[in-house]
Amino acid sequence: MGNNKLWLLLLWVSFVGIWLDFEYVEGIGVNWGTMASHQLPPATVVQMLRDNGIQKVKLFDADESTMKALAGSGIEVMVAIPNDQLKAMTSYKKAKQWVSQNITRFNFNGGVNIKYVAVGNEPFLSAYNGSFVELTLPALQNIQNALNEAGSGDKIKATVPLNADVYNSPASNPVPSTGRFRADIGDLMNQIVQFLSKNNAPFTVNIYPFLSLYANADFPLDFAFFDGASSPITDNGVSYTNVFDANFDTLVSALNAAGFGNMPILVGEVGWPTDGDKNANLAYAQRFYNGLLRKLATNQGTPLRPGNMEIYLFGLIDEDAKSIAPGNFERHWGIFRYDGQPKFSMDFTGQGSNTFLVAAKNVQYLSPSWCVFTGNADDVSKLGDNINYACSNSDCTSLGYGASCNNLDAQGNASYAFNMYFQVKSQMENSCNFDGLAKVTNQNPSQGTCSFIVQIVGSSSSSPSSLIGPFSVILATFVSLFWFSLV
Ligand SMILES: *[C@@H]1O[C@H](CO)[C@@H](O)[C@H](O)[C@H]1NC(C)=O
Ligand SMILES: *[C@@H]1O[C@H](CO)[C@@H](O)[C@H](O)[C@H]1NC(C)=O
Ligand SMILES: *[C@@H]1O[C@H](CO)[C@@H](O)[C@H](O)[C@H]1NC(C)=O
Repeated sequence: MGNNKLWLLLLWVSFVGIWLDFEYVEGIGVNWGTMASHQLPPATVVQMLRDNGIQKVKLFDADESTMKALAGSGIEVMVAIPNDQLKAMTSYKKAKQWVSQNITRFNFNGGVNIKYVAVGNEPFLSAYNGSFVELTLPALQNIQNALNEAGSGDKIKATVPLNADVYNSPASNPVPSTGRFRADIGDLMNQIVQFLSKNNAPFTVNIYPFLSLYANADFPLDFAFFDGASSPITDNGVSYTNVFDANFDTLVSALNAAGFGNMPILVGEVGWPTDGDKNANLAYAQRFYNGLLRKLATNQGTPLRPGNMEIYLFGLIDEDAKSIAPGNFERHWGIFRYDGQPKFSMDFTGQGSNTFLVAAKNVQYLSPSWCVFTGNADDVSKLGDNINYACSNSDCTSLGYGASCNNLDAQGNASYAFNMYFQVKSQMENSCNFDGLAKVTNQNPSQGTCSFIVQIVGSSSSSPSSLIGPFSVILATFVSLFWFSLV
């Protein structure tokens, strides 16, 4: 009898342990962007998400092969409408077609577990010169109304992932409690939050401490991380030791001022890049995520919003075809490399243990060959032209100042550029020539922090493997088994 009780207690304790861990991991999502020259097959990525217990994913479109791979996985999905489709979505008819083709088709038991539709991506960025200002609210309304009409509105909510530049505090008193929506879009933001609130939809914001640091040479480095700051911001007696909390609470204040202080907030993107800038490196990324994950695990939230947070890390995998207009770091946001290998230790339980995420399985690489400079250039101008050509058609962002390959000598630079071109061209036969300045080698030319990559076999589409049931189903089964054993 006593033994039975002990056994039940142990089971209860381990159950609570699992449940807590699980609930915690459940809060973390990832952004799955696909702007890469060579993509892992969607089914491989979905398996990788499952292997790491990632239960939520945010997409940037509604690509069919991605959706098919997610079907049956149980993973919660935010599907997206890119900015260039917002104009079309101002027509209710087209919005209904979008919902029918990209939501309803996948939204069934055993299909894709769609939870949100992202309408646009940071459409009010100042850099867009207001191009999407008139389109976003009508598109949001049409999509949510079409979801409602299709009978999905209770479960699937439309939201607009916005950059944190839609709100700010006055320069005269730059503290979180004075946060307001940006003056030029103030009325529009009020209408958007009204509409979101009416439909019980969340506000979605992208917050980038890295960009605060990148944009401002005087930004205090330690304020970008979560391990304490030498000069915290004090606001009404509250001390802010990191820019993430300060930024988030600036939004809470802006929502409060608009009359929606309790609106749920999703952090649509947050992360740290690992290359392409002096502050983009493995050590800083690890420090950032360590602090963030620890913070999330303790459910401390922010001073104005204590408790659980729903966040999506940016991003899942490096994307070598992203625009580098914002900076060379843009192609290095992945917590995984281009080939699905984890870059640094990361512990989703928030305990900071020195473990690595589970890598993508059965990745197919091209053959182990690299393209390098022969070492002889009679005409140095010809070399420069060829390097430029190679770099403008591939990704040389690791060569820049402060980046992982910045310490190569001139010959190394040339080899790096030639190899990136060779790999982006999938090692095609004529892609390692460069006026006779280049040759193929089987010896890996990587040195120090600088990795000369071999690309993967790129994928166009694939079908899902649904051998393992969704984790939530397994858990639900376990829960009900446990309760049954109690009764
Ligand atoms: C569905 O989404 C895809 C991918 O984003 C897009 O190309 C297509 O136009 C959408 N369908 C409709 C009917 O708008
Ligand atoms: C915004 O305006 C600037 C300067 O007028 C221009 O260079 C840029 O291309 C514009 N961007 C967009 C997205 O229209
Ligand atoms: C290599 O290339 C990088 C980026 O283009 C440049 O900053 C650096 O000076 C080059 N190094 C040499 C030795 O040419």
